[in-house]
Amino acid sequence: MTNKLIFSGVQPTGNLHLGNYLGAIKQWVKLQNAYKSIFCVVDLHAITVPQNPVELKKSILELAAAYIACGIDPEKAIIFQQSDVKEHTELAWILGCNTPLGWLNRMTQFKEKSGKNKENAPLGLYGYPVLMAADILLYNTNLVPVGDDQKQHIELTRDIANSFNQKYGKDVFTIPEPMILSQAKRVMSLRDGTKKMSKSDESEYSRINLSDDAETIRSKFKKAQTDSIAEIYYDLENRPAISNLLTIYASLADITIEQAQAKFANFQFSNFKTELAELAVEKISPITKKFNELKNDTTELQKILDKGAQNARTIAEKTIKQVKGVVGF
Ligand code: AMP
Ligand code: TRP
Repeated sequence: MTNKLIFSGVQPTGNLHLGNYLGAIKQWVKLQNAYKSIFCVVDLHAITVPQNPVELKKSILELAAAYIACGIDPEKAIIFQQSDVKEHTELAWILGCNTPLGWLNRMTQFKEKSGKNKENAPLGLYGYPVLMAADILLYNTNLVPVGDDQKQHIELTRDIANSFNQKYGKDVFTIPEPMILSQAKRVMSLRDGTKKMSKSDESEYSRINLSDDAETIRSKFKKAQTDSIAEIYYDLENRPAISNLLTIYASLADITIEQAQAKFANFQFSNFKTELAELAVEKISPITKKFNELKNDTTELQKILDKGAQNARTIAEKTIKQVKGVVGF
């Protein structure tokens, strides 16, 4: 156990998919034994796009259940709901007053999410990365385990922290580093190997949800995109779909992509897909089973989140007090 702290989060916006699991949460499960760990249900981030309040409430508890079903142990790690700790919004405001618009204008996620209608995009969506910086900096986080898509936000967090420290002439904030461990740092859609697997893709066949039953998983892999070259080998640039399937296999099996490639070199697509689907069922089914058991025990889940918030608050209060002092409040 080191003294270093890791912090990460997922938005409670519907089902978790294989990208979330392989890119982020599966790594957290290993890391919780080696680091002080905080895993957040980032509900304040979720409302940067429209949410149905009834659904949101349900998704918050379900995400906590999913964390635990994936193997996060609330006795080892802090699991909490972001909006329960008001210091996140307080710090986000203060950091926002120290973040130039030019830095935010570079964020690709805002460009993607706001689409063509930028004039109608809410301020919160634009300020999303500042709130994320607040999440990370409140806890003196050393490392942030995430998928590849979040790297830019962590770079921004570092810039914000450095400029704040410099402006006030004090090392108020620890400078965090991204931790991108997984070979599946960018799991792609099963329908289009050039698009990221995402909760917001209209096609259910584009992703494997952690709530999918065995038959659904099999049928999604069966229909997964391949290409016209008969052989199976990894070539991310020219064969994104096959490379994605090999990456998924390797990650699920905890082997390297080279090993996966060697194993399937002489296979036909259909046989490779069957093996992949069976491995996915074997790895995902226990998670789904545990998730289904846990998700209805809302009293227990709430208890875990309450205790997590209490523990998180103890750290967050200290930081915000220091920050307010430095700013002159
Ligand atoms: P989100 O669902 O956007 O809140 O993402 C939660 C976590 O999952 C973040 O660490 C992301 O980087 C990671 N993640 C989301 N989609 C993918 C993907 N397709 N491949 C790898 N990691 C992903
Ligand atoms: N923006 C992250 C995502 O969409 C979620 C997130 C919010 C996060 N705050 C964070 C991740 C702090 C790591 C650390 O995936």
